[in-house]
Amino acid sequence: MPTSAEPPGQPEPGSPAGAAPGSPLPAASSTVAPPPAPPPARPPAYLACHELVSGYRKVPVVRGVSLQVALGEIVLVIGPNGAGKSTLAKALTGQLPCFEGSVTLGGEEISRLAEEVRSARGIGYVPQVNDVFATMTVTENLEMGGYRVPARALKARIDEIFDLFPTLQVMRRRQARTLSGGERKTLGIARALVPQPKALILDEPTSNLAPLIAARVLHEVAGALAASGHAVLAIEQRVSLGLEVAHWGYVLTEGTVRLDASAEALRSHADLGALFLAAQPAPAPAAPAPA
Ligand SMILES: Nc1ncnc2c1ncn2[C@@H]1O[C@H](COP(=O)(O)OP(=O)(O)O)[C@@H](O)[C@H]1O
Ligand SMILES: [Mg+2]
Repeated sequence: MPTSAEPPGQPEPGSPAGAAPGSPLPAASSTVAPPPAPPPARPPAYLACHELVSGYRKVPVVRGVSLQVALGEIVLVIGPNGAGKSTLAKALTGQLPCFEGSVTLGGEEISRLAEEVRSARGIGYVPQVNDVFATMTVTENLEMGGYRVPARALKARIDEIFDLFPTLQVMRRRQARTLSGGERKTLGIARALVPQPKALILDEPTSNLAPLIAARVLHEVAGALAASGHAVLAIEQRVSLGLEVAHWGYVLTEGTVRLDASAEALRSHADLGALFLAAQPAPAPAAPAPA
C-alpha cells in the first residue's frame, strides 16, 4: 500500500507547519524545521567495534572506529591503500591489540580475548594473501582449517564443505598451488568455514582476480554466506562490484570512518572517488618519537 509522508493539504514551503494556510495563529512549533529522515534501520549487530583504537607497537593506525555487521548481512569496508583496513580486520580478529574502545561478538565483549579464543567463539578470517598452504592438497588445507574440530567430526565437516563447493571436491587431491586464483580464494574461504564461524572477515577477497572471477567470488560465495546467515565483513578495493552485493558500507580513510551509509546510498554517492583521492596525498605522518 503506498504511503505518503505528507498528508494532503500540506502548507506551502515556508508557511507555518501545523497552521491552516492563512491562519494568524501559527502553532508553537511553526518555525521548527521538520526533523531529518531517520537513517535506515540496521539489523542488530553480531560483530561490532566501538571507538576502536589499534595499531602496531603502541602506534595507533585505526583511530576510533565504530562499525557493525549483523548475521545475514554483507558489510563492506572500503578506502584507499594504507587507510588501515587490514589493521582493522586484525584488531577485530585479535591479531592486534585493542588499545582503546571495544570489540563485541553477539553482544559480548571480546576485546581482550586472544585470537584463538575469538576464533573458537565464531570469528573466521580470510587474509588477503597466504590464505592457503600452496604445497598442500585441497583436502589437507581444509583439514588444517579444522585443526580444532574433533577428528571424527572433521571428515563429515569437510564433506559438508564439498557439498557447498562441489568444484573443490573435484580438485580435492590437487595441491593448492595448481589452482586458479578464483579456485584458491574459494579454498581460502572454505578453509575458514570448516570450524563453522558465524562471522567471516574477508580481507580483499577479489584482489588479483580477473573481473569475472571477482564478481563470482563476491556474488556467489559472499552472497551465499550471507544468505546462509553468516555475518560477512568484506574489505574490498573493487568498490562498485562490492556495493552490488553489500547491504552497508563504511569508507575508511586515515584510520577513521569517513562515511557510514547503506550500499544503496553509497552507490549513488557522487563524490566517493573524490573522498578516496582527497585521502591519498596526505603527507606522510611524522615518525613517532621514541617512547
Ligand atoms: N606490520 C606493520 N607494522 C607497522 N605498521 C604497519 C604494519 N602493517 C601496516 N602498517 C601501517 O599501517 C597503516 C595501514 O596499513 P593497512 O591496515 O595495511 O592499510 P590498508 O589495508 O587499508 O591498505 C599503513 O600506514 C601501514 O604502513
Ligand atoms: Mg589491506
